[in-house]
Amino acid sequence: MSENIRLLEVNKLSKKIFLSNGKELQILKDISLSASSGEFISILGISGSGKSTLLKCISSLLRPTSGEILLKGVDPYHINNFKLSRLRREDISFIFQSYNLVPSLPVLENILLPLRLSGKKMNTQLVKTLLDRMNFNANLNDFVSTLSGGEQQKVAIARAIITNSDIIFADEPTGALDSKSRGVIFNLLRELADKGKCVIMVTHDIELASQTDRALILKDGKIFQELVNPRGEELYKILDTKIL
Ligand SMILES: Nc1ncnc2c1ncn2[C@@H]1O[C@H](COP(=O)(O)OP(=O)(O)OP(=O)(O)O)[C@@H](O)[C@H]1O
Ligand SMILES: [Mg+2]
Repeated sequence: MSENIRLLEVNKLSKKIFLSNGKELQILKDISLSASSGEFISILGISGSGKSTLLKCISSLLRPTSGEILLKGVDPYHINNFKLSRLRREDISFIFQSYNLVPSLPVLENILLPLRLSGKKMNTQLVKTLLDRMNFNANLNDFVSTLSGGEQQKVAIARAIITNSDIIFADEPTGALDSKSRGVIFNLLRELADKGKCVIMVTHDIELASQTDRALILKDGKIFQELVNPRGEELYKILDTKIL
């Protein structure tokens, strides 16, 4: 089990964007949080509350307007491109809401791509075992553009897991999946956290969130509430189910 090493530190993060009509939109306000190895954290909130923007800001993909982010003690927005690329390749993984797969590459190549880019050993058998566990029904040689949304989501998850990085950011990783696959994927992420990884997952799924260690509820770009060992009924109460 992990010794709870602090892997992420976020201090007063705010994000504003400037719209084409000249107006300003404040998406995130003064968000502070931290996460350690062995922790599985869920982020909930209604559509448009800023979940994806937060995940991108804390994972080195989107520069905040103000505030500090430390990933394994390093501020990704104040290091050179070489170090930033290495941090993204080796220390963090991201499962995107929109998958971000390479449509012109087959399944296997999409999954192995991060390992190929970092010159690491590639184990095709490991990919097969992982996909089998996810009940993946397509072929390793299929182009991802020919797959269903759910199968593409599984490829995106396998690509994020295979690199063995310390922090996994997942933006609605079960959104396109049937309930059986949803459970399988959740258990995979839960196991990774139990083995010492840090998993930070955006989800609309209260049942899954209630099995994480901590739930952060976003409202109007702020952390409205934080629950340790959240119970489903507490989450249902806070998040009016009509608007989830
Ligand atoms: N680049 C952008 N330009 C204009 N508006 C943006 C941009 N990025 C985010 N927003 C707005 O900021 C708000 C938060 O967006 P975000 O994608 O973070 O929400 P979310 O909580 O992930 O929603 P969902 O549950 O639908 O995925 C939304 O109102 C969105 O329209
Ligand atoms: Mg989103």
